[in-house]
Parts: sequence; C-alpha cells; structure tokens
Amino acid sequence: MKRTIALAAVAALAATAAIPALRAQGADPQKTVDAAYAKFRTLKEGKNADYIPALAKVDPNLFGIALVTADGKVITAGDVKTEVSIQSISKVFTMAQVIEEQGLDSVAKRIGVDATGARFNSIIAVEGVRTVVGTGAPEMNPLVNPGAISATSMVRGASADEVWKKIIGFHNDSAGRQLSVLQDVYKSESDTNQRNQAIGALMLAYGYIKDNWQQAVDLYTRQCSIGVNAKDLGVMAATLAFGGKNPVTGKQVMDASKVPGVLAVMATAGLYDDSGKWLYATGLPAKSGVGGGIIAVSPGKFGIAVVSPPLDDAGNSVRAQRAITEISNALGGNPYARAKAGS
Ligand code: DON
Repeated sequence: MKRTIALAAVAALAATAAIPALRAQGADPQKTVDAAYAKFRTLKEGKNADYIPALAKVDPNLFGIALVTADGKVITAGDVKTEVSIQSISKVFTMAQVIEEQGLDSVAKRIGVDATGARFNSIIAVEGVRTVVGTGAPEMNPLVNPGAISATSMVRGASADEVWKKIIGFHNDSAGRQLSVLQDVYKSESDTNQRNQAIGALMLAYGYIKDNWQQAVDLYTRQCSIGVNAKDLGVMAATLAFGGKNPVTGKQVMDASKVPGVLAVMATAGLYDDSGKWLYATGLPAKSGVGGGIIAVSPGKFGIAVVSPPLDDAGNSVRAQRAITEISNALGGNPYARAKAGS
C-alpha cells in the first residue's frame, strides 16, 4: 500500500518535474507562485499529523507560499501569516548552530551525516551496528530523531536556559524576527513524547549523550514547538540559500563556508524515507516538519517555503511538495540542471 502511494507520488512529482529542460527561461516569480497556489489550493490529499494531539486541530486548509530572492524580496501567495509549529525543520537550524559553534567535524564525528533512509522517529540508529569511522560513535543523522536529540544536547551552555537562548536566537536570526514557542503544541508534545524520551534514555545508557538526556529531550521538544509562518520559513530557507546571510535583514547568521555541509545533510535526509524521490524530482536540499511546513533551498537563487498541514505517508506535506516542485522547476531552481548558455 505504502509502495503504491509512494510510486503514485513520485509519478506526480516527476510529471511536474518534466518542465522542458527543467528551466523555463524568463518565468515571472510572482506569476509562478500565484499559479502554483491556484493549482494546488483545492488539492485535498493527505492528513494532518495526529500523534501530537495539538497538530490534529490545525486547519487543514491553511496554505501559504513564500519565495525569497537574493535582494530580500519576499514573493508570497495565500496565508503566510498564520503560525504552525516548526517541528522537524528546527533540526536543520540546531544542527547548523552546532556546526557554526563547533565546526563541521563535530556533527560528522559525533552524529554522522550518512543518509539513513529511515522514518523521522526511527530508533534503528541507536541500536545499529554501523559506527562513524574512526570515532566509534553510532552512525545517526542530525535530521532523524536520535541524531537530532544528540545535536540539541551538543549546544553548549551552563544551564537549560542558556542553551535555549542560543537555540531560539539562531532561529530568530535566520527568520529575521523574534519567534516564540506555541505553548499548546509544546504541552501536547511533552505529554505524548514517550518515544523520544525512550530514545534519550537509551542514548544515555549507551553513552552517546553524555548527561542530562531529559534536558536534551525537553529542549528538542521546545524547539519543535517554535511557531513560524510561511514567510518566516521562506526567509530561513533563503538564509541558507545565500551563504548563511539573511537576505532580508542582512545579518550573517553563520559562516558561509559551513553552509554546504548543512545543505548536504538536508539533501540526503530532509524528507526522510522519501528524500531520494524528492531529490530526483527537484534537486533541492529541503526539510519537512509534521506541522505542515517544508523549506527548500536553491543555492544562490532562492529560498522557498510552503505551509500546508496535510501530510503523506512519509510525514511530508502533500501540497508543499507539489507547489515547491512546480515553482522551483519553472524558475530553474534545480542545481543539477544545466543552465542554458547566457542565463
Ligand atoms: O520528534 C517529533 O516527534 C517531532 N517533534 C518532530 C517530528 C517531525 O516534524 C518529523 N517531520 N517530518
């Protein structure tokens, strides 16, 4: 069943990917965004995540698109103001913060950066036999829960408060505004996150998290509950698209030399077990969250985000995947596509 749905999804994505040579020269970004909004507004596939009760209550009709260009122009369609929880998209920015603070090797050696092909909450890595060559650390991935909780645990700080200020600060700088936690989502997820608690406890038992796994799981849950709208996510994607510099505020959020490592992890694991299909259709490093957001990055060209809560079987927003694929391919966003001479 899952396979039939997945094949149908890849066929749909490939159909939109079949833009002549993946580059329609001269496409107007606003018209392209508007057209994708109109085309997918009535699409009713997918279902809100409900394993966190608060997510089931979010309006499934919410649909907003934001594309942000090098000059900080924000091109939008639909509802780009209503906030949803950022969920797993936060994994990218916490990983980026650890890389910024402790270098590319820190994440590669303590967590690992290989694709897992696993679902977002897979525990396979914790018990897995594969280890990062040379360190003996388990091979996880910063975008799959054991590795993501590990990344949160690596952010340095003398207290939970100090660590949290750094995590939210990095998200704020990337979005270009002060974000805050959606308390209803935080409470709902804290009440129901026994699986993540089990992952944290198991990682302490193996010595993969050095101490205080409860703090790591709590801060991870908090970062997943940060409220963002489509515009925030578009700007966050653009910060990664333009070498770590927020194109709206002009702030250099992270060192440009470290951004390609972040994008590489997104490309290999951003949409979990559907990451390969996504890359095949778009070529874009991306990250999804079960709140319904997806960010995608066309390096040097644009950052794009879509918010639409109904998800497919793999936990990725259906409308977001379709809209981003359509828009990016129309605008020549695929980094693997050969540019026409003179463009
Ligand atoms: O770990 C969890 O359950 C969530 N807070 C994050 C999951 C998520 O967004 C997975 N993404 N597609």
